[in-house]
Amino acid sequence: TRLVLVGPPGAGKGTQAKVICARLGIPQISTGDMLRAAKKAGKLPEELVKQMAAGGLVPDSVVLGLVDQRVTEADCKPGFLLDGFPRTTPQATGLDDVLAKNGVKLDVVLAIDVAKDLLVERAVLRRTDKRTGQIYHLKYNPPPASVAEADLEHRPDDHEDVVAKRIDVYEAMTAELLPFYEKRGKLKRISGVGTVDEVTQRVLAALEITS
Ligand code: AP5
Ligand code: ZN
Repeated sequence: TRLVLVGPPGAGKGTQAKVICARLGIPQISTGDMLRAAKKAGKLPEELVKQMAAGGLVPDSVVLGLVDQRVTEADCKPGFLLDGFPRTTPQATGLDDVLAKNGVKLDVVLAIDVAKDLLVERAVLRRTDKRTGQIYHLKYNPPPASVAEADLEHRPDDHEDVVAKRIDVYEAMTAELLPFYEKRGKLKRISGVGTVDEVTQRVLAALEITS
């Protein structure tokens, strides 16, 4: 299965991606995670570090290059889930080219809808376990006592003003992908409001995952 998860910052893409990928046994490809890993390794050019920290998008060519390389790896043969990519129309058409080159197609694009006013609180109180990548929320999905506070990371782009900027960028650049995929008959939409488990139930139903 080849899936795309699209939705505004804080919609729950990463949280739900982990559940879907575990159920289907496919890798999660998050361009955000890949860029953050490159930054940690000191391999992300300073200009891109700044663009991310300010809540803007990095150039299409950069993320297309990452995805082009990643989807040809052996573990992506049975399928994969793209989280946070594509986010512009040129990325979407670039993805079609990359997939065509590999002789495969997208199956489903799942959009997670969450109203703007809930997104800021979700992002600002997010913490990520830097050892496992597990995503928590200080209020809605708190880390267990076994996770040391020192292992919890707060993303530099999760401060209120930057989150607001990221939401604007989503509306200006990414929201147009919904009609793009709708026209191609690939789009499914669910509400991302409710508990994590409630949203997971909608995700599994929309993707017709029963086992
Ligand atoms: P990226 O890492 O993709 O960030 P994003 O799209 O802004 O999305 P988030 O990771 O913030 O949210 P999410 O939907 O994954 O939500 P999560 O599950 O974590 O991108 C970061 C940056 O990288 C971009 O700004 C850009 O600079 C660059 N970039 C990445 N891809 C790019 C691309 N393709 N092109 C160009 N630039 C790119 O959940 C959020 C919080 O809510 C958590 O605390 C979670 O515990 C909580 N939560 C989840 N579900 C629920 C629920 N149902 N109820 C209550 N709380 C919940
Ligand atoms: Zn994410």
